[in-house]
Amino acid sequence: MKDLRDGMNVSVNRRSFVKGGLTAATVGAGLMYPSASVLAHGGSEERSGRLDKGDASILRFLAAAEILETDLWQQYNELGGIPDSEVPGGSGNPTYTAALAVLDADMAQYIHDNTEDELTHEVFINAYLDSKGADTVNLDQFRTLPSSKATGAQQIGRLTNLMQLTVDTSWWTRYRSGNKNPDFGDTFDQAVPSLNKGQHPAIPRDDDDLTPNDHIQAIANTAGFHFGTIEQGGTSLYPQLAQRVTHSGVLRIVLSIGPTEAMHFQTWSDKAGNAPALTDPKDSSLVFPDLNSSPLGGEEFQTNLIMPEPTIFLSRKLPTCSIVRPTATKGAAMGALKFLTDMGLFIGQSPAFFELLRDLAEDADEATR
Ligand SMILES: [Fe+2]
Ligand SMILES: [Fe+2]
Repeated sequence: MKDLRDGMNVSVNRRSFVKGGLTAATVGAGLMYPSASVLAHGGSEERSGRLDKGDASILRFLAAAEILETDLWQQYNELGGIPDSEVPGGSGNPTYTAALAVLDADMAQYIHDNTEDELTHEVFINAYLDSKGADTVNLDQFRTLPSSKATGAQQIGRLTNLMQLTVDTSWWTRYRSGNKNPDFGDTFDQAVPSLNKGQHPAIPRDDDDLTPNDHIQAIANTAGFHFGTIEQGGTSLYPQLAQRVTHSGVLRIVLSIGPTEAMHFQTWSDKAGNAPALTDPKDSSLVFPDLNSSPLGGEEFQTNLIMPEPTIFLSRKLPTCSIVRPTATKGAAMGALKFLTDMGLFIGQSPAFFELLRDLAEDADEATR
């Protein structure tokens, strides 16, 4: 991971930016915290270089989203994936890895590959911005949240918090519905209602979380659903923002990365259905139901229905269509930021972090064709 980013350090740091009186930091290769060298624009607009202003804003928001995705996937990979030269860091946690493998024997490989994909999205988008003379995104100064203390995790500062999640599992029924669409204002039932209430760890917080068996399985199940929640978000975000891209080069980037998020989502949608039904022995409010049994089951819950059910699209007068949902573009970046914030992913982050992310999202949502 470091190797890929190291190639970027010169260009990224040359124009590290932050708006509105925040300080942007120049971060040396391999350093996780700001060095003394600081560069800020003092509230001026970011540079778009040779890109259309809106296109640069959209790419910067996507770069930020990908940096955040990489950070969370990296934490999963350290404990439950395959730390290696492609995705270095951490040494694996055999108990958590085994609990994840209950969902699929190849979970560790899939976690590794998803992590690597996000890292390349992050690095590519920033490199493209830089190649066009546009400002890039660097969130290193916000890598301040604690790591898991469980065996296998690196002890470094993180951007995201995977230990207090409130996981929206409504994508499960949204993609199985044949007559509703969030773009029409429809709402959807939760597959695992208790995951959408309270705060739940998706990685072991320390080695006490490794026992008893059903407790670490509940944590692995939480991760299994969180994977789908994250990647369905990316699956919608790219087509949402693509509608407001101006130039074909940027459109090509957005149209080429977006479907890889859908490939991830499809995989996780399949695996989450294998999460065993159980009640967490250390938190009796956390219950994973048997999605195939009454009162669940049927088209909205049946676990082998992993492809999108055709549903209403654009107009109820048109025939149903198998589509990504939602794809309405208005306010999409702010919507994505709210979605990530509401799941608890940024619990512990500073006001400056939220201010920067809000600025990036607002700029992306101001983009027009
Ligand atoms: Fe991504
Ligand atoms: Fe993703």
